[in-house]
Amino acid sequence: MEKIIDETKQGETLVKSKDKRNTKNLYIESYGCQMNFSDSEIVASILSENGYNTTQTLEDADLVLVNTCSIRDKAEQTVRKRLEKFNAVKKHNNQMKVGVLGCMAERLKSKFLEEEKIVDLVVGPDAYKDLPNLLEEVEGGQSAVNVILSKEETYADVSPVRLRSNGISAFVSITRGCDNMCTFCVVPFTRGRERSRDPQSIIEEVNDLWNKGYKEITLLGQNVDSYLWYGGGLKKDFKKASPMQQATAVNFAKLLDMVAQAQPKMRIRFSTSNPQDMTMDVIESMAKHKNICNYIHLPVQSGSNRILKAMNRLHTREEYINLIDNIRKIIPDCGISQDMIAGFPTETEEDHQDTLSLMEYVKYDFGFMFAYSERPGTMAERKLEDDVPEKVKKRRLQEIIALQQKHSLYRTQQHLGKVEEILIEKESKKSDQHWAGRNTQNTMVVFPKENYKIGDFVMVKINDCTSATLLGEAVGYSKNQ
Ligand code: SAH
Ligand code: F3S
Repeated sequence: MEKIIDETKQGETLVKSKDKRNTKNLYIESYGCQMNFSDSEIVASILSENGYNTTQTLEDADLVLVNTCSIRDKAEQTVRKRLEKFNAVKKHNNQMKVGVLGCMAERLKSKFLEEEKIVDLVVGPDAYKDLPNLLEEVEGGQSAVNVILSKEETYADVSPVRLRSNGISAFVSITRGCDNMCTFCVVPFTRGRERSRDPQSIIEEVNDLWNKGYKEITLLGQNVDSYLWYGGGLKKDFKKASPMQQATAVNFAKLLDMVAQAQPKMRIRFSTSNPQDMTMDVIESMAKHKNICNYIHLPVQSGSNRILKAMNRLHTREEYINLIDNIRKIIPDCGISQDMIAGFPTETEEDHQDTLSLMEYVKYDFGFMFAYSERPGTMAERKLEDDVPEKVKKRRLQEIIALQQKHSLYRTQQHLGKVEEILIEKESKKSDQHWAGRNTQNTMVVFPKENYKIGDFVMVKINDCTSATLLGEAVGYSKNQ
C-alpha cells in the first residue's frame, strides 16, 4: 500500500467470487486512501448478503457505487468525471442505480442529489450497514441519503470480502475517523471522530487471514498510533472511562504486541503514523518483534515551525527530528517515508527551504508530495487566504519531488550487495519472467521467478537499483518460509 494514495489503483473495480443465490450485479469503484479500498470490501460484504455479486463490467451493473475521496480538489473532479460516464451508460439502462459513498458523499450530502441528477443514493462512511434499507427506498423509485456519522461504528462484526486481493496481503482497519484537526484537512469532517476497534475482533480477523493463506497485513487508520481501546467509545471520551477501563486499556504498542504474537510468521505493517502520537513504546514493539516490518510512514507536511503551527500539526521540527533520531537509534535500518504539502497559505521561500533542509536531514526512502489544495470548511479555508500563487506552489513542489528522487536513489543504493527477505506478491509489471515483492522497508524488489511462487518468503541478493526499485536474484528460501 505503497501509500495512502496509490495512483495506479485509483478507480480500480472490485470483484469477488460469485454467490449463486445472488441475482443482481454490483459494480464498485474506489478512489483515495487505503481506508476507502478497505471500506469498499466492507460494502461488498454487506451487499453480498443482500443479493449482489460484484462485476467488473459497468454495462452489466444493476447498481454502480463509487467510493469517493475529498482530500484535494482534483480527487473530487476525477469522481465528477466518472459520474458523467455513469450517466451516459444509465441512459441506455434505466434500471441501473448509481450511488456515491465515502468522503464526497459526507461532504456534499444531499447537495449531490441536486447537483448530480444521476445519483440515486448518497451514503457516508459510517452508514454502510444501512445500505440494504436505503436500496429498498431506491428500488421504490426514491432517492436515499444517510450521512450520519457514528460514535461507535467500526464495522468490527463485518468480515470484509477481499476483493482485488492477491491472496497474500490484506488491510485490517483498526481505527476510524480523526480528531487531529490539521487545518488543511477535510478528513475530520468527512470521517467523524476517532474511535478504535475491539482488539479481539482485530486478532480474529488476522488469524482468519493467516488460515486463508495471507502472509502480510497492514493495520489501517488515519492515525494508527492514536489507537486506544477501553471497551468502546470515542477516543476523546477516554478520560471519562472508569478506572478499571483505563487500567486495562489497549494502546497501539500493546495492539502491535498482541497481533505480532498471535501470528508470529505474519508480516505486519501499519499506516499512517502521526508524529505527535508516535511514542517510544511503539518503536520498541517494532524492534521486539521480527515480524513487524521496519518501515514507518511518517508524514510531516512541512519543515518550517511556523507552518507546522499554522497547520495545527502538534509538534515542532525539532521534535520530529528527535523522533527520527530515536527511530534510527532503535531500528537503524528502518525505512521512513513522508507526505509533504507545498504552498500552504503564507508559506515563504524561507519556509520552503526549511522543508528542503528537513528532507536533507532525514533522506526519506520515498514520499508523497502535493500542492496545497484549499478544502471548503477547513480552518485554513476559513481563516487563511490561499495566497501562494499556483506557479510558485508548482515550482516548490517540483523542487521537493526532485530532492526526494535524489534521496530515494541514495536509499535504494544502500541495499546493493545485501541479501534481503522478500515476500513475493505478484508478477513484475515489466516482465512475466520476474516476481515482485517488498523487503521489510517497503521497497519493491524484482527478481527472476525460478521455481518460487507467490506467497513465498525468499532471500534475494540485491544487484542493481533505480530510485524506486531494487533488482536482484533469489538465493534460497528465508527461514520464515
Ligand atoms: N492521517 C491521514 C492523512 C490523510 S490525508 C493518513 O491516513 O495518512 C493524506 C495526505 O494528503 C496528507 O498527509 C497530506 O499530505 C495530504 N493532504 C491532505 N489535505 C490536503 C490538502 N488540503 N491539500 C494538499 N494535500 C493535502
Ligand atoms: Fe487529516 Fe491531520 Fe487527521 S492530515 S486525517 S486531520 S492527522
